[in-house]
Amino acid sequence: MAHQSDLIEKDIEAYLLSQEHKSFLRFITCGSVDDGKSTLIGRLLYDSKLIYEDQLQTLENDSKKMGTQGDKMDLALLVDGLAAEREQGITIDVAYRYFSTDKRKFIVADTPGHEQYTRNMATAASTADLAIILIDARKGVLTQTRRHSYIASLLGVKHIVVAINKMDLVEYSQDIFQSIEQDYLTLAADLTFTDITCIPLSALNGENVTRAGEQMDWYKGSALLPFLEHVDVAKDHSQMPFRLPVQWVNRPNLNFRGFSGTTIGKNIHVGEEVIVIPSGKRSCVKSIVTHDGELQEAVADQAITLTLEDEVDISRGDVICAAESPAEQSNQFAAHIFWMAEDQLLPGRQYLLKTTNKLSPATVTELKYKLNINNFEHEPGKSLELNEVGYCNINLSQAIAFDSYKDNRRTGSFILIDRITNNTVGVGMLDFSLRRAKNVVWQDMAIDKSARAELKHQKPCVLWFTGLSGSGKSTIANLVDKKLMDLGRHTYVLDGDNIRHGINKDLGFTDVDRVENIRRVGETAKLMVDAGLIVIVSFISPFVSERRLARSLVEDNEFIEIFVNTPLEECERRDRKGLYKKARLGEIKNFTGIDSSYEEPENAEIEIKTLECSAEEATMEIVSYLEDKAFLEA
Ligand code: ADX
Repeated sequence: MAHQSDLIEKDIEAYLLSQEHKSFLRFITCGSVDDGKSTLIGRLLYDSKLIYEDQLQTLENDSKKMGTQGDKMDLALLVDGLAAEREQGITIDVAYRYFSTDKRKFIVADTPGHEQYTRNMATAASTADLAIILIDARKGVLTQTRRHSYIASLLGVKHIVVAINKMDLVEYSQDIFQSIEQDYLTLAADLTFTDITCIPLSALNGENVTRAGEQMDWYKGSALLPFLEHVDVAKDHSQMPFRLPVQWVNRPNLNFRGFSGTTIGKNIHVGEEVIVIPSGKRSCVKSIVTHDGELQEAVADQAITLTLEDEVDISRGDVICAAESPAEQSNQFAAHIFWMAEDQLLPGRQYLLKTTNKLSPATVTELKYKLNINNFEHEPGKSLELNEVGYCNINLSQAIAFDSYKDNRRTGSFILIDRITNNTVGVGMLDFSLRRAKNVVWQDMAIDKSARAELKHQKPCVLWFTGLSGSGKSTIANLVDKKLMDLGRHTYVLDGDNIRHGINKDLGFTDVDRVENIRRVGETAKLMVDAGLIVIVSFISPFVSERRLARSLVEDNEFIEIFVNTPLEECERRDRKGLYKKARLGEIKNFTGIDSSYEEPENAEIEIKTLECSAEEATMEIVSYLEDKAFLEA
């Protein structure tokens, strides 16, 4: 390396020890290429002499080749490492860089500034202690300044440095600096930062980056790097109450039962009382085991295994808390969500929600409003698109331990995962528990499902018909209904066209509405199964996710998916309701198969190919299936 502490050569042990005890600062830089962001980071790395010899050589060669800075080195090239990015003049994705000085270790997350990369910035900001907001002194506060600040604030960044760059291009004017500083403080008045520090600098000339600027003696504050070396973030971490999200229950033999994970917040010591959330069970710490042996006390961010005085039932995802300030527990929340997927967020759809170590099925029950990240306004909306932020109500299938994000970023944050693709589709910040959930309890019923079913001499189930409009679902469903009636069974038909005239008459055919349509029908079918009926459901139900949700509402063998497989061309040829014709003419929008998607089932219990069999034959096949599986016997 071009530079390193002299200690490396003289006393490597002492050097390593000094490294180990240095504090850490995670920060994020927000701004665009034009603000000189890459040059600033390049300057930080270059002036703190943290560049490898070969990187330096490449930089010299590249600078000559690109010729952007005349004979001088173009420090931005150090950061905009990828050739493709350089050609396009933008920085994509999040690049994390590590560097250290004698005082501190740093991780800097460099994210592109453009609105289309909001999700990248949000990801990086969620773990940052500090954000550097870059402003071009010639341009002052811009929309993007507002956006970056708002995202940083939403994601709980506490410390802000406003780097007012390119001071060389405004003749190092104190007036300009002060007026931008004032504009920024006004903008940030309602945001939740604990401190804001404005620094005038010229990244290009190295003024106020790693050393004080010679051209700005009116500025009495510290240069950027010394500021970053000294800003106090330790208390942000160590003042929070103790939490141990259990990552693993460690049980090597019958005599040892420990709970492993990484500590958050205040120290914990042997003998201290703890409480486990969500169960609420209490005990005391018996021992703290680490790689390097047993400890009397553990500090924040330490990987430990706790053993407890009592036999307490604890599983992965539970959180062991200091007894005097436990986490909360709930299954319904108000929360902010940053949407990160190309496919929109669909309220009513089931996703997986992951908090520290716990994965739970979750549904956004209501999108209360969207947040305009450029002007902080609330806007109405039914779903969230890529890079949008919304304030939502969320329902989980089980209670989890949590803290409000504003109190604890680790136990208050979550990601949302798509159940089919397993992709992360959103990140979120829990705000508070919706109390009403706690006040609605299940009413115990005197007569249960089996008693009702027995009386009807059948096993209740759902026959779920799915397929394109005009595929023949309703025709076959009606024949099955008649046949079962002839056999003396108790049935009911839920049909798309009919239900949409009643309980679902408020719904149209957007993806959002179809999700809600099927959610309601799934819930209704579940109630009817509980009443002991054989429920025949006939809906296009175009999405795998919602069919899966409907399946999950009843018991394992109670859901029989019937794919009425008729090719689109054939449905269109039949066109009994004349709707395909209208859809082709553009008179009906979002028509399934034309301009709205249909996801075919892969593992339907029964598949009916209507080109190969008559409706009567299909009916026989379905009724035989029910007979074979003993649904028609009590
Ligand atoms: S679903 O997609 O939400 O499951 P559902 O089965 O309730 O749809 O309703 C489908 C019926 O509504 C179709 O059989 C057709 O008669 C009618 N319909 C009207 N507009 C549309 C449309 N845009 N797409 C599909 N079906 C439509």
